[in-house]
Amino acid sequence: MPDPATPAAGQVWSAQGYAANAGFVPLLAADLLDTLAPQPGEAILDLGCGDGVLTARIAAAGASVTGLEPDPALAAAARARGIAVLERDAHQPFGAAAYDAVFSNAALHWMRAPETVHANIARALRPGGRLVAEQGGFGNIAAIVTAMKAALQAERLPERARNPWDFPSPTLQRERLERAGLQVTEMRLFPRPTPLPTGMAGWLETFAGPFLLGLPEQTRARVLERALALLSDLQDPREGWIADYVRLRFTAVKPG
Ligand SMILES: C[S@@+](CC[C@H](N)C(=O)[O-])C[C@H]1O[C@@H](n2cnc3c(N)ncnc32)[C@H](O)[C@@H]1O
Repeated sequence: MPDPATPAAGQVWSAQGYAANAGFVPLLAADLLDTLAPQPGEAILDLGCGDGVLTARIAAAGASVTGLEPDPALAAAARARGIAVLERDAHQPFGAAAYDAVFSNAALHWMRAPETVHANIARALRPGGRLVAEQGGFGNIAAIVTAMKAALQAERLPERARNPWDFPSPTLQRERLERAGLQVTEMRLFPRPTPLPTGMAGWLETFAGPFLLGLPEQTRARVLERALALLSDLQDPREGWIADYVRLRFTAVKPG
């Protein structure tokens, strides 16, 4: 069993690799910033800020923004943009009544104990403060997960064939947030077919680490080759590789 209080085991971030293979992640969530509507002087935490592309935009609105990021390489990349970063795992507490808003994009689905993280978010918000977030939702990258599972099972590695991410339904996520003491104000699940600039191989290189941790190089290569072959229906002859993303976007407030 993975330790629920650590980031997904096997995931290794590289600031360069992330920018090249997954630069679309912050770009496609730019309109989430409209929902956040950061105001000058507001204290805002960007949970799982990565290399800080969106965090810098929150700062540009005049808010006093802090990033929370456990990965040293990504934290350094965010600091290089002039952002203050708490280098910490979100399963550990990160403040009490300290923020007007907590923002998070594409990070919560990596966290293995969501209830702990939601409780930490509720604690960190001031009364009346808001949570504005997007993450993978129910059905997200189901084809990719299934192909990885099938490729691992073909290598007789069934114990590895599990989804390392948390992709909740709107009903489950609403229940969890309410249990943490937050009032849900919006909860929306929507498909977002996502073109992959460096193809499926680039995507797997950046994101499939948790499936492949500790495998010998040759086994790793065979698993990836098999998964790529199984996924060929996600490659359009004109538009290239398109991933089957489904996003869950939600807002909630801490009662005043
Ligand atoms: C796909 S990146 C998204 C980064 C950024 N929010 C963006 O939109 O580009 C996922 C981020 O979640 C962070 N993350 C994963 N597990 C975490 C945890 N347990 N606590 C805090 N951040 C975590 C990763 O380190 C990574 O920076």
